[in-house]
Amino acid sequence: MKLGSSSLEVSPVALGCMRLSGDTEEAMATVQAALDQGINFFDHADIYGGGEREAVFSALWERAPSIREKIFVQSKCGIRPGDDSGLPTRYDFSYNHILRAVEGSLQRLKTDYLDVLLLHRPDPLVEPEEVAQAFDELQQAGKVRWFGVSNQTTAQMQLLQAYVEQPLVTNQVEISVVHNQLFNDGVQFNRDEMGVISRSEGTVEFCRMQNITLQAWGPLAAGRVTGRLPDNPDPRLEATAKVVAEMAEEKGVRKEAILVAWLLRHPAQIQVIIGTTNADRIAASANATQIEMTRDEWYRLFAAGRGSGLP
Ligand SMILES: NC(=O)c1ccc[n+]([C@@H]2O[C@H](COP(=O)([O-])OP(=O)(O)OC[C@H]3O[C@@H](n4cnc5c(N)ncnc54)[C@H](OP(=O)(O)O)[C@@H]3O)[C@@H](O)[C@H]2O)c1
Repeated sequence: MKLGSSSLEVSPVALGCMRLSGDTEEAMATVQAALDQGINFFDHADIYGGGEREAVFSALWERAPSIREKIFVQSKCGIRPGDDSGLPTRYDFSYNHILRAVEGSLQRLKTDYLDVLLLHRPDPLVEPEEVAQAFDELQQAGKVRWFGVSNQTTAQMQLLQAYVEQPLVTNQVEISVVHNQLFNDGVQFNRDEMGVISRSEGTVEFCRMQNITLQAWGPLAAGRVTGRLPDNPDPRLEATAKVVAEMAEEKGVRKEAILVAWLLRHPAQIQVIIGTTNADRIAASANATQIEMTRDEWYRLFAAGRGSGLP
């Protein structure tokens, strides 16, 4: 698939590197398992493992230098974790921070460029002119090819787009069968039920109209409906796990594949950012592109994940 309006031909299932092992051999085994399945897109952030995930990933070039041009590396900036001095976590989209953060990512990844840079979480103090200046300089210097955002609403993207020259090619947001607010808001609009207020501002529709690829993070719900059930009983998760297991059985595939196929079935052409480090789960997720999911099957999972039938 194409990533938004960029020229990048990316795999619909991508590997998130947040949970990569700090051990080089283990990390490379995970990356290789992804490459073996045709995954060509790797998602990082400057803060994953305090920078260690980017650093361990760089072992890939040391082993196979020619691979750099064949895969796509995305990283994120804009979160500044709290520290021992008592400073809380902050978000920072200032010109200086964006430039400094990208330099750090490039050094740790031992690469000259990022294929995509995302702003990680919306900064209430954003000065969009500063973002525009940072993006221009990074692009002109050849350090970043394409730009996007993460966890942003429609209005936040519109504000950036009003100032930033480059198109936003992706918005990375949490979506899974059991974390379905972005879809749920659309069907629940103007209904006073479950105490849920719509906050997504039509983010899915806006991204579709603007050709901004939605990247789904947390797609396997951290195993909560496929294997690692939560400590406290949760009827909604248990009911969803049952539907996922039944559907996997019916189709003769692993349960992870059902979760990924549910996202791929959505017409927005979502790119699914899996976070598993397990080779079998990576293979099952990548093979979800082969699964046909009917409209009825999609709704069966949606209803289970919502915890109640549709209005
Ligand atoms: N933009 C953002 O704000 C944001 C936030 C969080 C994450 N992300 C990105 O999205 C990627 C994916 O996020 P994620 O890791 O939360 O997503 P995920 O794919 O939903 O969860 C992966 C986790 O679930 C576990 N898991 C999956 N199936 C399991 C099973 N059947 N039994 C036991 N454990 C199971 C995996 O363990 P195993 O490794 O053992 O399989 C792994 O720890 C991250 O790597 C990161 O790149 C972005």
